[in-house]
Amino acid sequence: MRTPVLAGNWKMYLTPAEGRKMAETLRSLVAECAGREIVLCPPYTALSAVSEALEGTNVFVGGQNMHPAREGAFTGEIAPPMLIALGCRYVIIGHSERRQYFGETDATVAEKVRSALAEGLIPIVCVGETLEQREKGVTDPVVEIQVRQGLAGLSPEELAGVIIAYEPIWAIGTGRTASPDDAQQVCAFIRSVLAGLAGDKAQETRILYGGSVKPENIKELMNRPDIDGALVGGASLKAESFARIARFEE
Ligand code: G3H
Repeated sequence: MRTPVLAGNWKMYLTPAEGRKMAETLRSLVAECAGREIVLCPPYTALSAVSEALEGTNVFVGGQNMHPAREGAFTGEIAPPMLIALGCRYVIIGHSERRQYFGETDATVAEKVRSALAEGLIPIVCVGETLEQREKGVTDPVVEIQVRQGLAGLSPEELAGVIIAYEPIWAIGTGRTASPDDAQQVCAFIRSVLAGLAGDKAQETRILYGGSVKPENIKELMNRPDIDGALVGGASLKAESFARIARFEE
């Protein structure tokens, strides 16, 4: 069966000192949590402090983005080996904020996903529709294009190792969560698209839901068959609330 993943995306919040403190509190709150992967994705500047605080624990670390090249003249960018050197196992790719504010496309997502896999990082690939697209009833085709193009060229084995985060843009940071049934419907649809690409291997791909996840709704989301975890923004900034999410506690 698929191991659940609970990933916190801190976005552009928390200094290294604040991040270390959060990680130190979190590690004891989730020390007994077995059978799931708990991940924190701090800003680059806090990666080192957070990695140190989590060394030898059951909480792993990821980046929020990366450049696809191993190195080069790309001012302001971070390469995959740099993330790995700071203890990262995971990397978020194509978050809707990257697509919306920094011009990322399905083509750049595909390039980064291939690079992450080649470097040994587990990509958490974000897809999701806008409110306008949902209201027009085009959620499925929008998400299908993002999945097909963002994961283009991957083998069934590689597709099995990718994590997909379905994040409806209208539910991010708004307090509006997709209902567990709506989230399940899209996650099941994503799995059917993956099945077309990877056959039975699609059963191994973890699909997360993201968008205003909090302790109050995690249990119900996790009860759905195609939701394998959550990508959490705001509620991952405090150790207590993220620990409750990681423990599936209301
Ligand atoms: O990456 C996380 C998502 O954007 C969700 O953010 O939990 O603050 O809505 P949120």
